Amino acid sequence: MLSRLYQRILGNPFVYEHVRPLVVGGVDYTTAWNDLDVGPDEVIVDVGCGTGDGHKHLTRYKAYHGFDTDPIAVDYARTRTAGRPNVHLHARLLVESDLQTIKPDKVMLGSLLHHLSDDEALGLLGMLARTPNLKRVTTVDNTPLPGRYLNNFFVRLDRGQHSRTAEGYMALAERAGLKVTRTLLHRIHPTRGLMMLFLMRLEPPAAR
Ligand SMILES: C[S@@+](CC[C@H](N)C(=O)[O-])C[C@H]1O[C@@H](n2cnc3c(N)ncnc32)[C@H](O)[C@@H]1O
Repeated sequence: MLSRLYQRILGNPFVYEHVRPLVVGGVDYTTAWNDLDVGPDEVIVDVGCGTGDGHKHLTRYKAYHGFDTDPIAVDYARTRTAGRPNVHLHARLLVESDLQTIKPDKVMLGSLLHHLSDDEALGLLGMLARTPNLKRVTTVDNTPLPGRYLNNFFVRLDRGQHSRTAEGYMALAERAGLKVTRTLLHRIHPTRGLMMLFLMRLEPPAAR
């Protein structure tokens, strides 16, 4: 019960947007969005879009589809993106038929994989590996690091209970049939961040 209350507090949009950055020294997902490198003719799926933080970074796209299982976060994202053209927000799980219909060029999994069990992550990554015309997926997640006690303390405080080592995240992507073409360990905020994030760029197998 206490743990459910803690999860609700951390999931509150105000806490997520304003309190969490104060605690971890700032939150800036520019590195991940730069890695996804969205072009003006590209269709984007953002799984675990949360409160719509991606819209701080996305300046051009053909269409944006955000999916999140938390309806409160999606409502916040709806307010934040009101008036922006071609933004579609869905308060539910992404399913394979969505990918077949939307046919995204690129997919963002921003701070999502550490919320998913191995089976859930393999299901999602496997769907992405089978998506026609997909060019790139960028993932970014917290990770425990040897001797980095403050980082590891924040990892334990996180709502996501499936944080993994870099090798653990890469093994999941490869088991799902995706190629890991770039990795980067970077601070959650370039100058003040007290916690580290592990980024992966994933691409589908060449011959499908
Ligand atoms: C740490 S937040 C990240 C939000 C956003 N990507 C960002 O970078 O600010 C993780 C989000 O994933 C959502 N989530 C967890 N499991 C999910 C799933 N299976 N499908 C979609 N969203 C999920 C949570 O509701 C939460 O909003």
